[in-house]
Amino acid sequence: MWLNIKSFEEYQNIYRQSEKDRLKFWEHEAGTFYWRKSWDKVHSGGFEKGDIKWFEGGKLNITENALDRHLNTIGHKTAFIFEPNHPDSFRRTITYRQLHEDVCRFANVLESKGIEKGDRVCIYMAMTPELIIAALACARIGAVHSIVFAGFSAQSLAERIQDCDAKMLITNDGLRRGDKHVPLKDISDEALESCPTVKNVIVCQRTNRDIDWKDGRDEWWHNLIRNASKRHTAVEMDAEDPLFILYTSGSTGKPKGVLHTCGGYMVYTSYTFRNVFQVEEEDVYWCTADAGWITGHSYIIYGPLFNGATGIIFEGTPTYPDAGRLWEVVEKYKVTHFYTAPTAIRALMSYDLDYVRKYDLSSLKVLGSVGEPINEEAWHWYNDHVGGGKCPIVDTWWQTETGGIMISPLAGITPTKPGFATLPLPGISPALMDENGKEIEGNGVNGNLCIKHPWPGIARTVWGDHERYLKTYMSAYKGHYFTGDGCRRDAEGYYRITGRVDDVLNVSGHRLGTAEIENAINEHPNIVETAIVGYPHDIKGQGVFAFMICEKDPKDPDAFKKEIHDLVTKIIGPIAKPDKIQIVAGLPKTRSGKIMRRILRKIAADDMDNLGDTSTLLDPSVVDDIVAGKAI
Ligand code: PRX
Repeated sequence: MWLNIKSFEEYQNIYRQSEKDRLKFWEHEAGTFYWRKSWDKVHSGGFEKGDIKWFEGGKLNITENALDRHLNTIGHKTAFIFEPNHPDSFRRTITYRQLHEDVCRFANVLESKGIEKGDRVCIYMAMTPELIIAALACARIGAVHSIVFAGFSAQSLAERIQDCDAKMLITNDGLRRGDKHVPLKDISDEALESCPTVKNVIVCQRTNRDIDWKDGRDEWWHNLIRNASKRHTAVEMDAEDPLFILYTSGSTGKPKGVLHTCGGYMVYTSYTFRNVFQVEEEDVYWCTADAGWITGHSYIIYGPLFNGATGIIFEGTPTYPDAGRLWEVVEKYKVTHFYTAPTAIRALMSYDLDYVRKYDLSSLKVLGSVGEPINEEAWHWYNDHVGGGKCPIVDTWWQTETGGIMISPLAGITPTKPGFATLPLPGISPALMDENGKEIEGNGVNGNLCIKHPWPGIARTVWGDHERYLKTYMSAYKGHYFTGDGCRRDAEGYYRITGRVDDVLNVSGHRLGTAEIENAINEHPNIVETAIVGYPHDIKGQGVFAFMICEKDPKDPDAFKKEIHDLVTKIIGPIAKPDKIQIVAGLPKTRSGKIMRRILRKIAADDMDNLGDTSTLLDPSVVDDIVAGKAI
């Protein structure tokens, strides 16, 4: 039987049991799935060598657990409701049986194009059912999907394709997000100029705009599926075979390809979805994320499908055609579970409350939050105006690398507190560490958040760079996984994530590396050096502040700012555009040449009173100059 915790007492008991015998706990969870052959060993390896394995020797196909397994019981049930960008456009519902057929058809298409087990396929698409069908079809044939958020630039797309040597790209002619049009095929064409490994491009029609066509390489989705069979025998995978790569930003260098494998990821996303959200048979669950991020992978695609839930695929934005869109959709489909990011809540809070009050939100039972710390004001607005004070809020802390939720209330079970991710899920043992690498015991303490033992959902490597994996996650605190987050454990033992302690920004719930943005800006011919820091931003959580040294003072600051914006948009994408820029004569550096970001962060946050010790700087006077300067 699936573990489905129903009371706080049960949570506490199960947590204790999982601590006592972790392997038994996970083995029990894994036993609830359909395996073609059971595993030889529940778990091996550890953080020291980064050779973590779960359910090794087990044979399965993850799509048989997401789809085939349900056909006889809930084949007729809606798997997805598709809500398009414009409320008047064509919407549709897809049952589990239809989804199974569509995935089988497309799996046959992929195989007919020569895609084999282990090949990488890049997906750069609008949030439509076809994106999900493409991903599941890859999983069905054992190909490794790499979904790239369709807001990234041609250069970012190219980098991701090159890094994993993808053989195929699946895209749309274009997409509409709110009132914006994004020419996905044009962007793909530009990216592919530097991606010789891509032999085939499958284009799914969405906007019907004119696009360029490369005969022999490009083919329409609708033509290919027309004659494809709706039957397909899933390819047998080992539990530790790769399932997908998802690129995410780190504190240094280019984005890392985080790799997840089949068995452990399946067990972990399914277990966390079921217990955190407590979705029941007739419920309608809506996660507003884009499938281009980990939240979409784990809690739009995989977790809900394993559990036979009905989910919504939303192509639009919270403010299009107006700021009532999310609530209109909740009313229309009688959504029971609503999972979004604090940045969306903060953005909607700035509009008239009538946008919320206009709609009947009485169907809602559970609210969720993910991606960044939720400030108390946003928490209360969400609780009072969306949840009507009757819906538990699950503030779910996790990361691309963790595969699924790690610290979170269980809906309606764990007593919550605004701003707290509350308690770890059974099977997860957090530790707070001090600067000397020692664990901080007890309550009422702050430290760097680590995890003590491997769990099935942990990423297994960074694609093509295992050293980087070890260095980033396993080396700061020996024998532990380091999350990069700071954390408070309060007097009651409740966890509150305080934000990143490394050079990673969290802008509107999206991860951006400071080095990545700096490298992009440094491409400008007039820039000598750039330092990026985050600063508190009312809606985005963190804004991007760029301090830059120019060769010549720009004549027209506004035009210069636009040039910087255009450059960052071209190299990374619009999400990374600096909100503020300040031209400076020098940057605060230590004698060894390291930029002291701590000082820049304070200046960017307008917190000049206590800049701390500047005596170790090579030239302390640069700080006065920066304080005296002004951002544009
Ligand atoms: O800093 C934490 C923050 O988002 C980071 C992970 O980002 P990403 O891999 O893009 O995954 C986002 C979606 C899971 C974390 O290191 N974060 C995520 N959830 C929370 C959070 N910070 C505070 N509270 C959360 N609930």
